[in-house]
Amino acid sequence: MLRTHNCGELNKDHIGQTVTLCGWVDTIRDFGQGQFIDLRDRYGRTQVTIGPNSPDEVKQVVGQFHRECVVQVTGIVSARPEGQQNEKIATGDIEIEAQQAVLLNSCPNPPFLPSQAELPNEDLRLKYRYLDLRRKEMQETLALRSRVTKGIRDYFEANQFVDIETPILGRSTPEGARDYLVPSRVHHGEFYALPQSPQIYKQIMMIAGYDRYVQIARCFRDEDLRADRQPEFTQLDMEMSFVDADDVMGMIDGLMKKLAHDLLGIDIELPLPRMTYHEAMTRFGHDAPDLRFGMEIVDCTDLAAQTEFRVFRGVADAGQFVRGINAVGAASLFSRKRIDELTTYVQEDFSAKGLAWFKVNDEGELASPIAKNFEAAILEEIKSRMDAKPGDLLLFIADSWDVSCKALNGLRKKMGAELELYDDQQMHFSWVVEFPMFDHDEEEDRWVAKHHPFTAPLESDLEQLETDPGQARAQAYDLVINGYEAGGGTIRIHDSGIQQQVFGLLGMDEQQARERFGFLLDALKFGAPPHGGIALGIDRVVMLFAGLDNIRDCITFPKTQRATDLMTQAPSGVDETQLDELAISVIQPED
Ligand code: AMO
Ligand code: AMP
Repeated sequence: MLRTHNCGELNKDHIGQTVTLCGWVDTIRDFGQGQFIDLRDRYGRTQVTIGPNSPDEVKQVVGQFHRECVVQVTGIVSARPEGQQNEKIATGDIEIEAQQAVLLNSCPNPPFLPSQAELPNEDLRLKYRYLDLRRKEMQETLALRSRVTKGIRDYFEANQFVDIETPILGRSTPEGARDYLVPSRVHHGEFYALPQSPQIYKQIMMIAGYDRYVQIARCFRDEDLRADRQPEFTQLDMEMSFVDADDVMGMIDGLMKKLAHDLLGIDIELPLPRMTYHEAMTRFGHDAPDLRFGMEIVDCTDLAAQTEFRVFRGVADAGQFVRGINAVGAASLFSRKRIDELTTYVQEDFSAKGLAWFKVNDEGELASPIAKNFEAAILEEIKSRMDAKPGDLLLFIADSWDVSCKALNGLRKKMGAELELYDDQQMHFSWVVEFPMFDHDEEEDRWVAKHHPFTAPLESDLEQLETDPGQARAQAYDLVINGYEAGGGTIRIHDSGIQQQVFGLLGMDEQQARERFGFLLDALKFGAPPHGGIALGIDRVVMLFAGLDNIRDCITFPKTQRATDLMTQAPSGVDETQLDELAISVIQPED
């Protein structure tokens, strides 16, 4: 070993010992007759002193030290002089008087310093990821991530799950994103698809009799990236046989309780609260509502129908919706200019036609340029339904159900953050259940699976599958943490008749279904037990547990929003010979 201790463990108990530390030079400071060097590794920082009595060779070697070079220092642990202790760090009572120093490796002037106060530009952080990973915040997040996966493994092992790996090179899976394809050298013109999830394999494992399967699985989806989405991400994937939705949710409830307790010191009450998809959309406008605060959506369509205000009346008469939220106490914070900005926001981001608003003045009256279009009695009714008090700001969207949900969810989130209605330490876990089986793709006028095509409908809705597929609800459940979808799963169809019916609704005839999923359909005939499961996004769970809002900060080597790796420069061109072997020729894009 090149060291006797790490840079975070020495304290008063070690005074008088001769020790050897290795680490990176965090800072070098001159003092009157010598220098202080802060040596850093992932355990902490230790101060080294080079004073007038230090050997000349040491002074010489230290003369070559720069920030971020790697060094080895041997010396005696001594107490820091009175008044020079640093309570903020574990080693703050001691320092090392250097007796020997070795420059293990030098470092050119780095593009940023791991311990600099301001966060470096993200492109630089990604390009020089090894420097970025030296930052304390990154080290803490990765340590947390490691504890999350360890907690998951311990929990599932204790519950008799078997940890099973499934292939990365496989066939297209049914999660609905674009596949990443891998060309086959042996079978020219044929491709493997990287798994969007291990969905098919885990169902096959149920048929194979492994009634409790778990895997921490890498998934690949070529989709538009956002702050909470990466092309390559990690799922906690699990599946159980002979269960219903309550059993799967119950198993994840227990996991969340354990992780929240062990990693955050928070005790959460079980069972986690549940609400239906319909209720979530009605009260919050979103299927993963942030329940750390209220500000629920209030429907005023019936009142709008009775007003002279053209916009409200027209929308109500057309069978659409006039709904609003009360941003309690926000009237004084929102000038006309800021309200105009909110209007532009809902128009640009959610295609809303406008934003109607009222401020409640000190007399308790609703004040707004549009107020003159409303009868006094209706204004009173709006006020009482919105529970409006002096100082409140009421915001209304008159539009289709879809637009009103999206715009009000956006406004609600913005207002919740602006008014600081929750604190960042707060964690809220809940379930949203009974999602619709299908979404309607308006452009192509066809049904698409809301989750995936193996999702079972609620037994009570089997008839709707036939008569009104848009209304049929699924045995589906999403885990929601602080307004993010942290996980999603379903009970699966194990009846081949219903499976065929669902494929049919999705526009796949028997032959197409066989082509894509024939092996699964066959397997389902060989004694498939009733089963269901779920997958949680581990990157997202870590992001939420760490109190971050960007998934890239929870992944060691993430991709940019344009799906590139700035450090390795992937994706990249390849040799002609490699392409020849694969029988692939690249069409150069025209500029
Ligand atoms: P689903 O597609 O809902 O379900 O994915 C489950 C969870 O994975 C996370 N997730 C992502 N995280 C980061 N980047 C992405 N691009 C990304 N996409 C998804 C989310 C999400 O809740 N096979 C089903 C599960 C099942 O039915 O058992 C599935 O993959 O946190
Ligand atoms: P207009 O009569 O179009 O000038 O609109 C008057 C006010 O109503 C403006 O503040 C608009 O932003 C707002 N408004 C217009 N359309 C809608 C709508 N669909 N929902 C809510 N407010 C709207």
